[in-house]
Amino acid sequence: MQSRRQLLKTFTTLSLGGLSHSVFASGEDSTINELVDLLHTNASPQAVARDESYWNKVSRYYLKGTDTINLEQGYWGKMALPVEDEYIRLTRKINQEMAWYARKHWSDDFKQVKQTVARALGAEVNEIALTRNATESFVNLITQYKGLQKQDAVLWADVDYPSFQHMMQWLANEHKAEGIALSLPSSGSKQDFIDAYTAAFQQHPNLKLMLLTHTSNQHGLTLPVKEIAALAKSKGIDVICDCAQSWGLVNFKMDDLGVDWAVFNLHKWIGSPVGVGALYMKAGTLERVSPFPGEAGGNESAQNRVHIATSDFAAFLAVPHAIAFHFAIGGENKAERLRYLRSRWVDVANTLPNIEVLGAADVDGSSGMGGFRIKGQVTQPQVSALQQRLENEFGVFTVVRQDLASGCNIRVTPQVFTTLAEIDTFANALINIDKAL
Ligand SMILES: Cc1ncc(COP(=O)(O)O)c(C=O)c1O
Repeated sequence: MQSRRQLLKTFTTLSLGGLSHSVFASGEDSTINELVDLLHTNASPQAVARDESYWNKVSRYYLKGTDTINLEQGYWGKMALPVEDEYIRLTRKINQEMAWYARKHWSDDFKQVKQTVARALGAEVNEIALTRNATESFVNLITQYKGLQKQDAVLWADVDYPSFQHMMQWLANEHKAEGIALSLPSSGSKQDFIDAYTAAFQQHPNLKLMLLTHTSNQHGLTLPVKEIAALAKSKGIDVICDCAQSWGLVNFKMDDLGVDWAVFNLHKWIGSPVGVGALYMKAGTLERVSPFPGEAGGNESAQNRVHIATSDFAAFLAVPHAIAFHFAIGGENKAERLRYLRSRWVDVANTLPNIEVLGAADVDGSSGMGGFRIKGQVTQPQVSALQQRLENEFGVFTVVRQDLASGCNIRVTPQVFTTLAEIDTFANALINIDKAL
């Protein structure tokens, strides 16, 4: 197995020298190299997660907003400064060179960027298509999915991304097939969620396709995808996994999931510029999804399942830098740190009689993202009022999520630059809110 330092060097080399056109290869990036050395550690991720000096060093690579304690980092990810610098540099270069660059070098550079993404996911390059966001990847899968008949059923759950749920319903309607919306427990253990899917598979033997969200955008629950997907595959069900929130928030490779297809963006937890996504199609699955309308080519590569047309060239070209930065911190270090930050407020919330913590009831299902509400207050106006109180009385910014079957909740999402003091301010706000009830 490659050592972490070797892995970092691989990604750094790719980010610095991999692009074909000499104008774009900066040759030497002292910031990323310095970071690789600065953050090198042999400590376990659990120890790194609790090492404040480490996270203090990491946080110097980000410009934080000043107005509020921002615990709404799940919308999209802040670029680290070296990534932002690279993106600005590339944007300027693209604007100088224009079609001269795009006509001569873009295609090779695009392949190189895709190679970096595939390597980071532990996938073959032909299994990956680059897209502009997770939604684009999902739309293409759904609209080009073949062979759904009216006797078939498709499954999704309340923890799935709302517009993806709607698209699953649309797909069922288009084929006059059955659409099944599963309501998962509002909180539970790994086994509880496996049991819920097992029961759904038993109840609906006509299932043909399912959506499975790795990490929910509602409350950060991370499902045991490998176990659920293995069960689904044993029943012949095709599995699309939504990894839009998970890649970079939790640490995994494609083999850890065992799904047919997966959709990603890189602008959340990988920290690329906004406008970069990916589609994974496991080798051997392409014949079940048509190429993008009119697109040439057969089943050799996932790339002809999408057509991204004119896009933000610089955003794609900055991806190797973002991936290098992510691995410089360490995928598992980051995941553990964010889980630790969640546990710091969840441990307090769990002692409060009027607060309900949602999602993962054990470490297995937890991520850095979390969700909560006041017990019994689940309507949109009630939860919006709570969000406003947190913002106006305590200076803590969060967001209301509205799609769990059990009602609305507040989503709480720190980032690698969030301090323990900020989490503690939020936990104290919960204590005060609870006391006043
Ligand atoms: C779970 C989940 N899936 C899908 C998406 C859509 O991602 P994108 O905006 O990159 O299309 C999001 C975005 O918030 C999400 O949280």
